[in-house]
Amino acid sequence: MPPRAQIAGVGAYLPERVMTNAELARMVDTSDEWIAERTGIRERHIAAEGEFTSDLALKAAERALAAAGLGADALDLIVLATSTPDNTFPATATRVQAELGMTRGAAFDVQAVCSGFIYALAVADNFIKTGQAQTALVIGAETFSRILDWTDRGTCVLFGDGAGAVVLRAAAGKGNGHDRGILSTHLHSDGRHYDLLYVDGGPSSTRTVGHLRMSGREVFRHAVVRLAEVVGEALAANALTPTDIDWIVPHQANRRIIDGTARKLNLPPERVITTIERHANTSAASVPLALAEGVGDGRIAPGMLILMEAMGGGFTWGAALARL
Ligand code: ACO
Repeated sequence: MPPRAQIAGVGAYLPERVMTNAELARMVDTSDEWIAERTGIRERHIAAEGEFTSDLALKAAERALAAAGLGADALDLIVLATSTPDNTFPATATRVQAELGMTRGAAFDVQAVCSGFIYALAVADNFIKTGQAQTALVIGAETFSRILDWTDRGTCVLFGDGAGAVVLRAAAGKGNGHDRGILSTHLHSDGRHYDLLYVDGGPSSTRTVGHLRMSGREVFRHAVVRLAEVVGEALAANALTPTDIDWIVPHQANRRIIDGTARKLNLPPERVITTIERHANTSAASVPLALAEGVGDGRIAPGMLILMEAMGGGFTWGAALARL
């Protein structure tokens, strides 16, 4: 059997500054009631001036390595998911690599917007399965506050900054659903929906950074359908049923999307890790941030089966099943 990628440690970091809905209501024509009712969001963290995506990523990475009881010298791979890199190039992962003091192996970024962490996890999982890496750091880190149009109430209320990370280690597996580690990953994209959620700038098109633009209602409609599909695909691939899942760790885009997916699986809300109220949508960071919270407070314990899923710009979407 090929080796399994076991989750050896999880870590997260949120910038200190908290921005409440009330504060936003003083900037744009909105209210705490509107935001909370439509999205479930009450507040979000915002990176400080001079605090970059790599700074958030580094802190989450250090915490994940500490939880795994490993030093950076054990790593031979860093895959960092972000849509808000420090610079257009080089990859933000290489800055994290340098700050960690890791001088061997490879570090690169993956870009799949809010599905980024699932994509990065799939990449690292496959490196480990094929024997090309033994110990990998997978990070989701974002500073979406830098690409928001703070005059557009339809988008600026939805996002926040943060980072989460996991350390994966190769371990022998028997190839059945009782193995600890990542059981399977499932990735999809459909570029025909490029214009429903995008940033209206970039080095090749406008030579500027640009701002996030979204057709919220359309994104919502697709998200509910695609997430249910990919969750079904992940369960079927492992001959599992929804009742086998201990915890859903979903991308935190909208409380109604999260509840809708849980309902489709017939899982009670008590089995869903939800951070949207306090973190808002942190894009590629939201799944590992939620995972770190569930592991940190003891709800997610060793041996439990977790289902991670996400949907983002592109569109991209995906799911990963893992036993802690
Ligand atoms: N405060 C008050 N009113 C608002 C706000 C606001 N912050 N934003 C929009 N409105 C108004 C609109 O102007 C509109 O007013 P009108 O009827 O007078 O024109 C009304 O509210 C309804 O607007 P909709 O956009 O139709 O509202 P909807 O119920 O669809 O909720 C929302 C909007 C919350 C954005 C929802 O569509 C959603 O969550 N969509 C999914 C978004 C998502 O998941 N995005 C992340 C994807 S992941 C990634 O890759 C980044």
